[in-house]
Amino acid sequence: MKATAKAHTNIALIKYWGKRNEPLILPTNSSLSLTLDGFSTTTSVEFRENLANDHVTINDETISGESYRRVSGFLDLIRQTAGEKHLYADVHSINDVPTAAGFASSASGFAALAAAATKAIGLQLSDQELSRITRQGSGSATRSIYGGFAQWQMGGRPDGSDSYAVPIASQDHWDIRVAAVVLSDTRKNVSSRDGMRRTVETSAFYDGWLGSLADDLEQIKEAIMDRDFEKTGKIAEANCLKMHATTLGANPPFTYWTDKTVAVMQTVQAMRAEGIPAFFTIDAGPNVKVLYLPENEKTVEKTLRDIPGAEDVILSKPGRGVSFL
Ligand code: DP6
Repeated sequence: MKATAKAHTNIALIKYWGKRNEPLILPTNSSLSLTLDGFSTTTSVEFRENLANDHVTINDETISGESYRRVSGFLDLIRQTAGEKHLYADVHSINDVPTAAGFASSASGFAALAAAATKAIGLQLSDQELSRITRQGSGSATRSIYGGFAQWQMGGRPDGSDSYAVPIASQDHWDIRVAAVVLSDTRKNVSSRDGMRRTVETSAFYDGWLGSLADDLEQIKEAIMDRDFEKTGKIAEANCLKMHATTLGANPPFTYWTDKTVAVMQTVQAMRAEGIPAFFTIDAGPNVKVLYLPENEKTVEKTLRDIPGAEDVILSKPGRGVSFL
């Protein structure tokens, strides 16, 4: 009962930022992302009769504490779904994403874990079913089941049965690129889980955020279908700024940005002023991802590498969905 799966992370162009049901991971809004080929997780899961607990390694290190509980709790859900309550697993995960620095390692991590574990335990799931179960590991992971552009439909049912991702356009639809500017490889101090909870509960700006999303989603889908880079980038950048504005309106207020984050944002805007179309987006951490077109790759990469404090720049193309090895 062993399976190995590979998944890529994704960058949200319309952000998921808040839950209406925390245990089931049901979001307050629908979101949309691009899967990236630059960052992946490969995970093997083997369920064995003689184990008393799950055993989990990430990059060859055994994990414990909260990270272990999240993985093991997610495996409980898979065991329950398969009717195999007493079968524990050996899990080995290799992550080539800088963990928890805002590169959504939980997205590729839980997508690969869900795919490998459900297959290893003998469940035969459609992509939609896999996306739905992956959601309960980490919300953003639900979109990483698919390559290219995917939308996580928030759904409305209290049991979450209609909350899963659907493909919008495959990785071959449009060759747009993403440069991830690595500013810090250290752990962020407010996790996305805690950050979004605090924002939903206290932010003076949360209603404004929610009220603007339906239009952003509709417009960006049109722009993606038309391969309209200006429009896609503009909406994504503005959506990111609105999400981050909600954290400033929270109590206590917080931000994921550092001075270097702002320096990258300003550099991207300066590139635009000089006629190079580029747009930024930022998740729950200090690093910045920059959207650009292939013909501008050299200029964009050089400009970003020259920013003081930019430790690395990692270039990605649209990536594919989950695969089995
Ligand atoms: C800012 O998926 O990490 O990256 O569901 O609690 O595991 P949990 O949160 P997570 O949140 C991601 C938030 C975001 C935006 C996004 O990816 O849509």
